[in-house]
Amino acid sequence: MTAGPAPGAAAPWIEVRNLTKRFGAVLAVDDMSFTVRPGTVTGFLGPNGSGKTTTLRAVLGLVRPTAGTALVNGVAYRDLADPSRTVGAVLESSGFHPARSARSHLRVQCSAAGIDRRRADEVLDLVGLGAEAGRAVGGYSMGMRQRLELARAVLGDPHVLVLDEPANGLDPQGIAWLRSFLRWYASRGRVVLVSSHLLAEAAQTVDDVVIVSAGRLAAQGRLADLMHAGSTAAVQVRTHDAPRLAAALRGAGIDVREQPPDVVVALGVGPERVGLIMAEHQIVVLAMSSTTTGGAADLESLFFQLTGASSGAGSGAGGPGAVGGPQPLPGQRGRW
Ligand SMILES: Nc1ncnc2c1ncn2[C@@H]1O[C@H](COP(=O)(O)OP(=O)(O)OP(=O)(O)O)[C@@H](O)[C@H]1O
Ligand SMILES: [Mg+2]
Repeated sequence: MTAGPAPGAAAPWIEVRNLTKRFGAVLAVDDMSFTVRPGTVTGFLGPNGSGKTTTLRAVLGLVRPTAGTALVNGVAYRDLADPSRTVGAVLESSGFHPARSARSHLRVQCSAAGIDRRRADEVLDLVGLGAEAGRAVGGYSMGMRQRLELARAVLGDPHVLVLDEPANGLDPQGIAWLRSFLRWYASRGRVVLVSSHLLAEAAQTVDDVVIVSAGRLAAQGRLADLMHAGSTAAVQVRTHDAPRLAAALRGAGIDVREQPPDVVVALGVGPERVGLIMAEHQIVVLAMSSTTTGGAADLESLFFQLTGASSGAGSGAGGPGAVGGPQPLPGQRGRW
């Protein structure tokens, strides 16, 4: 296994810095910057054509940036000392010869990468293809091919996994399996960056998100934090001492709404603060609840807020919950 950055070392495992990529007139990636934390599954989300694949390919040294950098453990992919043990990837195209078995494919890859050939069967077991290891890949279903791609990606037990739409072609059971696989992989302190257009699925899988729109970063952070950003906390209290509580809260600089006869709503604070003030003023509580308003109800709403894409894109390739569909890309460049 490849050692991580030394403690205190600055290099994040994946760092995209001011990355720009032009294909002729098309600005596929526009000054994009983000980093990815180890020990978490990071979702890389954006509408169709927003530059996800291009960015991932730049991280893997398959696309030459027009400007900026995409680094793995502080260096460009081509400068990694031991790439197959550092980064494993699943991209869109496979390159498996249909007549050869999965085992044979992976053994060849092991030899090329200086990995013990026995690892081939190990990873096939890991992705649930152990029983199919001897079959020609040409006879594999799409879901089986995706598992084989994943098996190939983890041959070197890499520290970093970069996966472009790995849920494509998987049935619900396969998606659930993939989710637990990615969580397990990340739980070992690894870096997992996974692009997805299936928001409902991503919401259940990822801890962090990098959301892109029209080649630009729209938001990055913990999914939970982003969902709560812009939300307002409110604490509703029922008490026989409503006027006294309202006065006490106002005295503490808290915005208050009164709902006579016995309810007071404190805005912009949490229950701890309200509870302390009530204790200080010896006010008896009959009922108390805290809520948040605003913010995003789910990843889909957050996504639409950030990218300006509209929902209901049911005719997109992914069906309900999928990103994309017939809408034009939002002209939000520069907004974020
Ligand atoms: N090799 C290429 N030559 C020309 N244009 C390209 C090339 N690769 C990507 N593009 C363009 O760059 C933009 C971003 O494409 P990219 O594949 O990175 O998007 P994506 O976010 O992965 O989309 P999807 O969700 O459909 O996979 C698109 O406008 C695409 O047409
Ligand atoms: Mg793509």
